[in-house]
Amino acid sequence: RIEHRIDSLLGIMTLEEKIGQMNQYSGFWDATGPTPQEGDQAAAKYEDLKNGLVGSMLNVKGVSQIKALQKIAVEETRLGIPLIFGFDVIHGYKTISPIPLAESASWDLVAIKKSAQNAAEEAAASGINWTFAPMVDISRDARWGRVMEGAGEDPYLGSKIGVARVEGFQGDNLASRKTIAACAKHFAAYGFVESGREYNTVDIGTSTVYNVVFPPFKAVTEVGVRTFMNAFNLLNDIPATGNEFLQRDVLKNEWNFNGFVVSDWGSIGEMETHGYAKNLKQSAELAIKAGSDMDMESSAYVKELVNLVAEGKVEEHLVDDAVKRILRVKFELGLFEDPYRYCNEEYEKKVVGKKEFHEDALDMAKKSIVLLKNENNLLPLKKEQQKIAVIGALASDKTSPLGNWVLAGENGSAISVLEGLKQYKGNSIKYAKGADVALPDSKLNFTQELDVNESDTSGFSEAIALAKKSDVVVMVLGEHGLQSGEARSRTNIDLPGVQQELLETIYKVNKNIVLVLTNGRPLAITWASENIPAIVEAWQLGVQSGNAIAQVLYGDYNPSGKLPMTFPRSVGQVPIYYNNKRTGRPNVEIRKEVFKSRYIDETNEPLYPFGFGLSYTMFSYEHIKINKTSKRNIKVSVELTNTGTIKGKEVVQLYIHDKYGSIVRPLKELKGFELVELEAKETKTIEFTLTEKELGFYTNKGEFVVEPGAFNVFVGGSSNTTLSGEFSIE
Ligand code: IFM
Repeated sequence: RIEHRIDSLLGIMTLEEKIGQMNQYSGFWDATGPTPQEGDQAAAKYEDLKNGLVGSMLNVKGVSQIKALQKIAVEETRLGIPLIFGFDVIHGYKTISPIPLAESASWDLVAIKKSAQNAAEEAAASGINWTFAPMVDISRDARWGRVMEGAGEDPYLGSKIGVARVEGFQGDNLASRKTIAACAKHFAAYGFVESGREYNTVDIGTSTVYNVVFPPFKAVTEVGVRTFMNAFNLLNDIPATGNEFLQRDVLKNEWNFNGFVVSDWGSIGEMETHGYAKNLKQSAELAIKAGSDMDMESSAYVKELVNLVAEGKVEEHLVDDAVKRILRVKFELGLFEDPYRYCNEEYEKKVVGKKEFHEDALDMAKKSIVLLKNENNLLPLKKEQQKIAVIGALASDKTSPLGNWVLAGENGSAISVLEGLKQYKGNSIKYAKGADVALPDSKLNFTQELDVNESDTSGFSEAIALAKKSDVVVMVLGEHGLQSGEARSRTNIDLPGVQQELLETIYKVNKNIVLVLTNGRPLAITWASENIPAIVEAWQLGVQSGNAIAQVLYGDYNPSGKLPMTFPRSVGQVPIYYNNKRTGRPNVEIRKEVFKSRYIDETNEPLYPFGFGLSYTMFSYEHIKINKTSKRNIKVSVELTNTGTIKGKEVVQLYIHDKYGSIVRPLKELKGFELVELEAKETKTIEFTLTEKELGFYTNKGEFVVEPGAFNVFVGGSSNTTLSGEFSIE
């Protein structure tokens, strides 16, 4: 029925009106205020809107603004086609949940889906129809600031999490009041920008494209993600935005994707800057031919496509195809039934920021925390007796825990670590800032350059004095929320500013330190890992940050998070990832031979491997059993025991190694995981099934094959597990 309606509508549209649907502008004026006057920057865009030359808008916030703009599209244009409103709902809309990388550390697909579901409900109540999420870019480079926005380094975990997020955002009925369209971004390979430098060139091999980059995109296509966003980078020296192989051959033809592709911000225009197109007109031509359906903020389509069609350079059926895709999603969202269905101020007030969202954000935040070290059971903190000092500017910060990509959330809306801890110990908890991390809260915004070289040590003496008279020092150190995210690449991935110096200084006067890390990417904290007895990876956990951290530190929540990205010992090891290849000259750490694949000044080992994370209890793995039920169907089971004295959760992980093949396979590949909760001393048998889907891989021709041969299988609580077995397939 929708297809029929699309065709009828398309049949009465002029070429200009069709191209209008392919044009997206950013929110450009107060739509509830006076009309933009000629000469205002917004006036030209406003004219385009009135003339039916805009199909979508982004960055418009709140029902009243959205309603006012929708009214223009619906009441003032000839055909009254509703706009689709897009927004970066990346980790919550107003109620900010943990950054996506943190949520991924939970490995808890139910909780992750719920988080996306809440974000969708809240954003939809505020008039939003479509989020530019999830980012399913796999990345192995912690220098790249946008790792905070993804699910980490692994294509299997990344696919599962991508699917959970898409299902959470979209639900099973896009027209429901609680769902929004999702967008898989950035297609493709943006996570592989060279040297981790934002917007840089990508140069990776075919096998990596098929076996690492594509899987999460394919997985979300299979569950019906409605939109894709292309990317700023080159792939094989062709900008992703103008890349026919990516958008037409793979996405639309091979994967049968019938939603639409939006460009990234200005990425059609940037094809000229890349040196791929000679001008904006050719950029528009190359982009539409390659399969980019909607132009975000380049104005290339709206300015150039009419002429390109008239000159016969672009066939009108390409325009028709793009428009049909866009209209399809608008129909599915129910916008034609009621363009204002997402626009009700009363409902908005009732839903945005509601209590249940905060409860779920707290649950998600606790599940995202990873315990990296806990010597002599320094944690959990004792609720009685201990004198606790809290040190670090990030401990009292109420904005940084929100992380980056917070466009509708409010500065200062997070519970700080200090506030969280005070709920346990009141004012007996003493605080000293020690050192700044970045500019003070009030001055920060998303587009601002940060002062990361803060070198003021004048706060040290107060912190030293406090540490001296305390039993335990909780040091909250790391990156400010705006030190990761888009355009936040770093060449040093250590503790910014003088925080390392502060840590070492305090350690000299009190060794009982619990280091709470808050950061948007893996950090090289090798000194801390060797010296500090307890380390908790707390990322940026959103509005409920301080409550979640306090509950973990005081043992009211037993941590179960596992790292979704490898932590390097030094930035020189980056990119470092667990699913690497052996090389022809593998290093054997203990022998230290010269002509081996190794460094002369550092080991090859990471600081913390992918999948690693401790608990307040302990788990043992025994009796791995392999049962071949058919030629290509293998069951692997293991006995998991909680050997400690309290209940806890463990992420049981299964990895395979295909020992030899027509292309070299990684030493380990995650192919299954299960989050298991066990009472103290309880044992459970955990079983995994490996089928062709898990045992195969893509050749350099992009064909999926399952080759006969021998495999190792490993099961354990981290990617460095050694408990293994063997099997072969025919
Ligand atoms: O969604 C984002 C994208 O990830 C990066 N460029 C801007 C877009 C819209 O805000």
